[in-house]
Amino acid sequence: MTAYEKLQNCLACVREKTDFVPDVALILGSGLGALADEVEAVATVDYHDIEGFPVSTVPGHKGRFVFGYFGDVKVVIMQGRVHFYEGYDRSDILLPTRLMVLMGAKALFLTNAAGGVNRNFNAGDFMLIRDHIMTIFPNPLIGANMDELGPRFPDMSEVYDKTLSRIILDTAARLEIPMQQGVYCQLTGPTFETPAEVRMLTTLGVDAVGMSTASEAVAARHAGIRVCGISCITNQAAGISPTPLSHEEVSETGNRVGPLFRKLVRESIEAMGAAL
Ligand code: HPA
Repeated sequence: MTAYEKLQNCLACVREKTDFVPDVALILGSGLGALADEVEAVATVDYHDIEGFPVSTVPGHKGRFVFGYFGDVKVVIMQGRVHFYEGYDRSDILLPTRLMVLMGAKALFLTNAAGGVNRNFNAGDFMLIRDHIMTIFPNPLIGANMDELGPRFPDMSEVYDKTLSRIILDTAARLEIPMQQGVYCQLTGPTFETPAEVRMLTTLGVDAVGMSTASEAVAARHAGIRVCGISCITNQAAGISPTPLSHEEVSETGNRVGPLFRKLVRESIEAMGAAL
């Protein structure tokens, strides 16, 4: 079976449960999963029920698609994503995003937990992702190109859509939520960075670091759909933070600012209706 056939197979499994065609695909990062419980759900599909679908092993990640509405906007929410450090093939990391493209999503809204590399960032800040660096991470499109979805050499000059990003900033301003903006760098994990690695990232112009997201953004741009994203800065990166890093700290901050983050994401998506 080719990777594209596997993808079509996954689509058929989803289509057995629902024929919902989403406008926006939303991927929820660590600690942010509760947003899926707030959507007026019309259907859910467990990843386990999708043949060949990669299922996450990270604590705190549920594994299901939730289909529903934010205002008039039809959304498919990924409650739980898979990461490269869990040992999946690159094509499996891209499969969920590609599946949501095939479901009909016109835009991908990415969220994640990230470490603050920029010294002006504090735990609990939100950062609009302006651009990313993924060159340190193995490129997820290495391997046979999926010609059905996009070209061999996709353009990445504007990964993060300006109009959708503007809507997020305007929504944050209306809700009086301060926003940072910057460059996100994806590393493989699962280790957090060393202070020397964080200094390297500072030199490279990185503002926030994490273990996801950029590869999904690349999959979406490869397939020609629009992308936007917000990082929740759950901790200052190693060497900036005075204390050792832990998954608990990441989850704690996610839980603390979760309600505000969810409000921002939900209202941004509602405001995107006219722009899609
Ligand atoms: N580094 C990498 N990934 C992360 C971090 C971090 O400091 N915080 C949350 N995800």
